[in-house]
This record gives sequence, C-alpha cells and structure tokens, in this order.
Amino acid sequence: MTDYVHGYSARESRRLVDQATTLAELLLADTAYPAGARVLEAGCGVGAQSLKLARQSPGAEIVAVDISAGSLAAARHKVAAAGLPNVTYLRADIFSLPFAPATFDHVFVCFVLEHLREPAEALTRLCRVLKPGGSITVIEGDHGSTYFHPDSGHAQRAVQCLVDLQTSAGGNSLIGRQLYPLLVQSGFTGVRVSPRMVYVDGSRPALIEGFTRNTFIAMVEGVREQAVAHGLIDAAGFDRGVRDLDRAAADDGVFCYTFFKALGER
Ligand SMILES: C[S@@+](CC[C@H](N)C(=O)[O-])C[C@H]1O[C@@H](n2cnc3c(N)ncnc32)[C@H](O)[C@@H]1O
Repeated sequence: MTDYVHGYSARESRRLVDQATTLAELLLADTAYPAGARVLEAGCGVGAQSLKLARQSPGAEIVAVDISAGSLAAARHKVAAAGLPNVTYLRADIFSLPFAPATFDHVFVCFVLEHLREPAEALTRLCRVLKPGGSITVIEGDHGSTYFHPDSGHAQRAVQCLVDLQTSAGGNSLIGRQLYPLLVQSGFTGVRVSPRMVYVDGSRPALIEGFTRNTFIAMVEGVREQAVAHGLIDAAGFDRGVRDLDRAAADDGVFCYTFFKALGER
C-alpha cells in the first residue's frame, strides 16, 4: 500500500462509518448477493460496508480482507455486536491474496483503489480469484467532482491539498472517472459505470450533517497537519478553506460530490 493518507485514527474510523451510513442508500441499495454466493470484500477497513452487505445478503458468505490488523479488530467487534453470522474477517494484502484462483462468485471493493500505487494490478489480482462469469463491484469517489455554493478559492485550495497529498503518497483521489478504462484494462468484460451524485442543500439536513460535515469536511480536516508540514498551504489558509467549506453546509449553502460505481464480469 502507499502511505495511507487518511490514517487509522479513532476519528477516521468514525468518519468511515458515518460515510457508509449516510451513503448506503445511494451506493449500496442495488447490491445484494444471492444465497450461497461467496463474496470477497477487498480492503474492508473497519467493516462499514461489509456489515451492510451482510445484512442485505443474509444467505451469502462474505469474506472481508484488509491489510490493517487494527481495522480488522474493529470490524470483528462490530460484526459480533451486530450478531451477523455471514462475515469472516481475514488479514490479507490484495497484492498477495491467500485464495486459489476462481474462489469467489463476487468481489466488492469500495474506497480502496484510490489509495493504491497500482490499481490496475490490484484489479487483475482480484479478477484471478473470481470464478468465470463472476462479478466485481467497485465504488470510488473523485475529489475533482466537488463543487459548492458559495464558491471559494480558499475552500478549493484546502480540497486540493488532499488531492496533492494523496498523489504524493502514490494514490489518486481523482480515480472515480477512470474506473471504466481501469476495469477493461484489467480483464473485466461487460463493464458499466454509474455516476452517483450527492447533492446537499438546506432541505436535506441529514446529508448536511452526515455527508458535507462528517464525511467530506472531516476528511479534508484530517489532513491539516500533513498539508501544513508539506508546505502545501499555511495553517491560516487551510483553516479559512475549511471555514468556507462549512459555509457551504449552512442552510443557504449547496454542496455536490459524485461517486462512481462500476460493475464488471470476469
Ligand atoms: C478508505 S478505507 C475503506 C474501507 C472500507 N472499504 C469502507 O468503504 O469503509 C481503505 C482501506 O483499504 C485498505 N488497504 C489499502 N491497501 C490495501 C492492500 N494492499 N490490501 C488490503 N487492504 C488494503 C486500508 O487498510 C483501509 O482499511
């Protein structure tokens, strides 16, 4: 993995859960696996998505892997507390998966490729553990799709810090727009991508809290120290940017962001 730009703090774990809860309807409502299906979730983190997948697909067997032992411990704790019997968590690296070829009926990947130096190679490895005819679902964001009202150059610069830090760590926070070519290049067929826009205004207070503030602004705030330490911005400029983003979360503000959900087959 690259240096993971969001880190593994308790605050980031909460952000991942907030993100998954807020976006479940938009991103996951159309993902359910049939009884008996074997599903691999690659890069499951603290289990925010696997819990939802397990609930929506009670007859499927979900194997969720991540490279971080700490995140897996949190995920195991959550799945036990939820009493879900159909998820198993395992420590594994996407680039050296401990599974025989053609083990899984489906693969699910969410918010992971953006952090990898070699996303196409990761997809190729995931393709190998899929059965012929099996499906992959990939969900990624694209920070270039962020726009808001009132517009603010300060806010745009703070967001750009996140983009630049992720690039210098070997990742790509603009990867959403590349899912189609990446999946095709990695050997998947029948690839189709659906853009999923989050639109937030004053009439949607749950999204103001759950998405604009607790998912997006929290993510930007999380790189403040790194951005200043790397000389990308000074502290005052960054704080002004975050304040302006927060202004877009006011009752008369508007915030937009687009996720990309891709489906393909082996
Ligand atoms: C932003 S989190 C997303 C977690 C989860 N999919 C979600 O949507 O909440 C990215 C996760 O990918 C994991 N990861 C990064 N590189 C990996 C690799 N090479 N193999 C397995 N997991 C990896 C990180 O440890 C982290 O938990």
